[in-house]
Amino acid sequence: MDSIAITGGAALSGEIEIGGAKNACLALMPAALLTAEPLTLTNCPRLADIATMRALLESLGCEIAALREGRALAIAAERIANRTAHYDIVRKMRASILVLGPLLAREGAAVVSLPGGCAIGARPVDLHLSGLEKMGATLALREGYVHAEAPGGLKGARIEFPFVSVGATENLMMAATLAKGTTTLCNAAREPEIVDLARCLRAMGAMIDGAGSETITIEGVDGLHGATHRVIADRIELGTYMIAPAIAGGEVELIGGERALARALIGALEAAGATVEDTPRGLRVSRNGGALRPVHIDTAPYPGFPTDLQAQMMSLMTQAEGDSVIHETIFENRFMHVPELARMGADVAVQGGEARVRGRTPLRGAPVMASDLRASAGLILAALAAEGETVVSRVYHLDRGYERLEAKLAACGARIERIRG
Ligand code: EPZ
Repeated sequence: MDSIAITGGAALSGEIEIGGAKNACLALMPAALLTAEPLTLTNCPRLADIATMRALLESLGCEIAALREGRALAIAAERIANRTAHYDIVRKMRASILVLGPLLAREGAAVVSLPGGCAIGARPVDLHLSGLEKMGATLALREGYVHAEAPGGLKGARIEFPFVSVGATENLMMAATLAKGTTTLCNAAREPEIVDLARCLRAMGAMIDGAGSETITIEGVDGLHGATHRVIADRIELGTYMIAPAIAGGEVELIGGERALARALIGALEAAGATVEDTPRGLRVSRNGGALRPVHIDTAPYPGFPTDLQAQMMSLMTQAEGDSVIHETIFENRFMHVPELARMGADVAVQGGEARVRGRTPLRGAPVMASDLRASAGLILAALAAEGETVVSRVYHLDRGYERLEAKLAACGARIERIRG
């Protein structure tokens, strides 16, 4: 297992290219199951999670060609040779559940392993399943697998989510494109990844209105056709690298960054004392010497502060002059980075979903362990500001969601290198 070693204290200066959005791509790829014609996705990130989704789709019978060094994926689901998504793949990545809706809509039957929990929480899929039942599917849970059937096809339904779920919105929006009649998703997720998926589905012939708002209406059609779609920029990668100059000092231009993808974070960074400017190629973030101010963060569904940037923001807040409060409202166990940050000298008190971050606490390098994708990113950012060397182990968590992270930061002057395990 690889590790990443960082010697802190270097201010950053340079530019970082933002890649395609992992979480958009993980929903766009299964959309290819909805048609026998090829769906070509461009601006795909080269990440472990994308490779896992590719393996899953190929296990179902998809032909996938990687073009442009893997940045474009041509996915052809001409025929579905196998309708079962097996546990050995699904357990590696929860987003595998996103093949359920498209498979059921295309084939009238699907068997998908329950994803199981993960480090940040139980992460059930009950909203996915209850929505499909409302659309006429019959579901049975046997030996950890969901056996779903809709032999006469799915039918349109009105589905009201009790709380916002990105994955359930994506799964049911895809399923509804081929259902008979109209489906209305109420209290739907509004993330940019939802808008991107709807844009791709419309290019494939789907009839979708309201994506990006809390009510999405899908008019079922008889069939979809192929398309070519460019994946949007990754707003969580963007946010992670926006925090880097704020915590390390200096300035970094994020090429491909868009203000519209990072409004909540920009508000928090400016409140903390960093400067964010628009540039012709993206965004520039800088902090040259000024002290950081504490902020109060409540994570929330888009357009609120992203839960996927909570760990990274906590690292920054350890350097603020004063105490900050962070409420994690989306996942029940997303403070796994706290004990590791404490090893570096951070002083964070966790009470349920609230973390009180004492600042400023000087950080010192230490051996730490990654626990989940975004927690590991938070540890890397903390290490940039720590005195001495930090070695982050189990960086396979990072490789799921960040492409060439150490190379991108090293190009901006960070003293960071990967140690092959
Ligand atoms: C997506 O996960 C993202 N993953 C997550 O990013 C992100 O943290 C999350 O949305 C919230 O923004 C992908 O897009 C692949 P949810 P998802 O359904 O869809 C509960 C990363 O680091 N819930 O919006 O699984 C759930 O347990 C990852 O890139 C149910 O109870 O998130 C959670 O507490 C981590 N029942 C909350 O809702 C359900 O049926 C929000 O989950 C579905 C969800």
